Amino acid sequence: MKKFIHQPRFTPKGYSDEVENKIQRYRKEGARLPQRHLLRTEEQLEGIRQSARINTALLDYIAQNIHEGMTTAEIDHLVYAFTTDHDAIPAPFLYEGFPKSVCTSINDIVCHGIPSPNVRLQSGDIVNVDVSTIYKGYFSDASRMFLIGEVSPERRRLVEVTRECRDIGIKAAQPWARLGDVGAAIQEHAEKNGYSVVRDLCGHGCGIKFHEEPDVEHFGKKGTGMLIVPGMTFTIEPMINAGRYDVCIDEEDGWTVFTDDGSDSAQWESMILITETGNEVLTE
Ligand code: MF3
Ligand code: CO
Repeated sequence: MKKFIHQPRFTPKGYSDEVENKIQRYRKEGARLPQRHLLRTEEQLEGIRQSARINTALLDYIAQNIHEGMTTAEIDHLVYAFTTDHDAIPAPFLYEGFPKSVCTSINDIVCHGIPSPNVRLQSGDIVNVDVSTIYKGYFSDASRMFLIGEVSPERRRLVEVTRECRDIGIKAAQPWARLGDVGAAIQEHAEKNGYSVVRDLCGHGCGIKFHEEPDVEHFGKKGTGMLIVPGMTFTIEPMINAGRYDVCIDEEDGWTVFTDDGSDSAQWESMILITETGNEVLTE
């Protein structure tokens, strides 16, 4: 019988024997492992980091320029101009037919809001601006919430707790933990605060493609799901509703996701790299 010998040519550069040994050990135990192509090489990481830097600078730029009274189409123009000025491409543009360069999601819009010249930011609004960048073929993704004018304490708390959910999820995303640990940690914090976690949308692998494996759910059970392995890059982007978790999609535009019960929704998104000792936040 031919013995299986692991093939070093598939080992991403810079991986220690310890990581290789652990992968083999977990494989024998029958754990669900990410496919090899999801473990980034140093060269890929270099490109992903550059893309992520532009994406983060873009959100900083939006933070400086977003204001009450502007239209969401104006945000779209800022995103397009900044991104192309940095020799990059806004990943959402024409992605599966999406018509704009950024998603702008206000109040009861959960995600994928389409910028429009007819929608103005009003005092009291909470708005998610979700930007994604392609640089030299490498993808990055992140979103932040912005408070417009005088925002109610209820909405402020939703935005705050959702950010905590994202950060708690990042903390749980440790090498050799499970994706279910991430979801469980987020779900616990959201529900403890009286909120619900959107089930129908999730985080995702990101870097070589916009959306790749694995799905990163923001709810779940500890100790279940795919093993988290050094070299993976994925997003954590909980969508948290003040009311029930059910959502519906706008039939006319085919994109805009609303809360079914009309309650408010918030989202914060980061992209992380799993390292041998923890993780590195690539975008926020
Ligand atoms: N940026 C979103 C995400 O976090 C995806 C938007 S897809 C688009 O995954 F087409 F609407 F841009
Ligand atoms: Co994303």
